[in-house]
Amino acid sequence: MPAVEMKPDIYWVGVNDRTTDLFEGLWPVADTGVSYNTYLINDEKKVIIDLVKAIKTDAFFDQIHAVMPLSEIDYVIINHMEPDHTGVLKTLHKIAPDITLVGTEKMKQMLAHYYGITDPVRVVRDGETLTLGRKTLQFFEAPFIHWPETMVTWEQTQKVLFPCDAFGSYGALRGTIFDDECLEPEFYIREALRYYVNIVARFSQPVLKAIEKLSGLDIQMIAPSHGLIWRKDPARIIDYYRNWAELAQGGGDKGITLLYGSMYGNTEAVMDAIAQGLACSGITIEIFDVARIHTSYILPALWIHKGVMVGAPTYEGRLFPPMAQALDMAVLKKIQNKKAAYFGSYGWSGGALRQVKSMMEPMQWDFRNIFEFQGGIEGDVLKKAEAFGREFSSDVQSE
Ligand SMILES: Cc1cc2nc3c(=O)[nH]c(=O)nc-3n(C[C@H](O)[C@H](O)[C@H](O)COP(=O)(O)O)c2cc1C
Ligand SMILES: [Fe+2]
Ligand SMILES: [Fe+2]
Repeated sequence: MPAVEMKPDIYWVGVNDRTTDLFEGLWPVADTGVSYNTYLINDEKKVIIDLVKAIKTDAFFDQIHAVMPLSEIDYVIINHMEPDHTGVLKTLHKIAPDITLVGTEKMKQMLAHYYGITDPVRVVRDGETLTLGRKTLQFFEAPFIHWPETMVTWEQTQKVLFPCDAFGSYGALRGTIFDDECLEPEFYIREALRYYVNIVARFSQPVLKAIEKLSGLDIQMIAPSHGLIWRKDPARIIDYYRNWAELAQGGGDKGITLLYGSMYGNTEAVMDAIAQGLACSGITIEIFDVARIHTSYILPALWIHKGVMVGAPTYEGRLFPPMAQALDMAVLKKIQNKKAAYFGSYGWSGGALRQVKSMMEPMQWDFRNIFEFQGGIEGDVLKKAEAFGREFSSDVQSE
């Protein structure tokens, strides 16, 4: 995509990545793609804000060159050191070694560790400004969105915020970079939530702190380094972020995430009966087979719904491994204070329940409803399962 002028002398350039299958080597983006957005300011001083992953490097440098020759660039602002925004830095530094790299003190340390670059580097403090001519940049530290060195950049005259990972989403750009020209903004909101819970959720307190810190700015445009630029109503994506970050304390809507895994169908049959019980009350249920659906898609449901139903059998004295993996990711992402239930089949001495209990403990899930059964779906197991589902949905709703 050629450069797009977003505001006078401020340009979007970037890489639309439709070939990486796993973002961070972990999160599936083969269906959605992902973009690494970079911004250029063509003033008396010439600036690049954030870079891109080391793919399509030639095309990326050509994009920049069409706006301003690489040899004329004065500064590269490094809001965040993660290689999805700095991958081409070493190459750029070799081509244009006089460009000054701008960032936090922590960024300077990491720059040496990741790329062996120590000079020319300009360290900026929280709130410091950099005059470019007609335009002025201001930098605000925003540690842990998403790494410790992170800051955001604010362009004072056009009132554009460049927050790097914050307010970003998965999803390659589909012909436009702006939310108001996009025919499917809901796709990007959904992908922003998946991105938030996959990447940022563990740092929800820093997110709330940053939102508070930036609350005095009259933001007209939010230009993140992944996904759409928010200019129609920038407050909307900030509100989404605030709501998502507040869910780190727990709670959520009255929906239920029903996670299940099954080897021979016993736990699965019970899951269907439980789902019938849950559905009686008309609440939202999202069902995931943990062995087949990637955790990336499960985490958003866990994040936004208050209820969690975990169904999996015993496997070699322990919890069915794909379920253990899903719960372990929930622990890592600090999905806390949910209302939880467990069901599952075991053959002889069990073991799954013990592990579920110990995994839920650090997340402080309120875990009282248990329906364990031995072997197959004999007798009145399915009837009991349906009643178990009905009871849990009314527990979730009554809170
Ligand atoms: C590979 C494998 C390992 C198992 N390990 C145990 C075990 O250690 N303890 C136990 O009580 N049951 C164990 N079981 C029995 C299952 O928990 C039981 O068959 C259960 O009904 C399976 O539920 P499902 O049909 O939902 O897969 C094991 C079953 C399999 C296939
Ligand atoms: Fe990041
Ligand atoms: Fe990123």
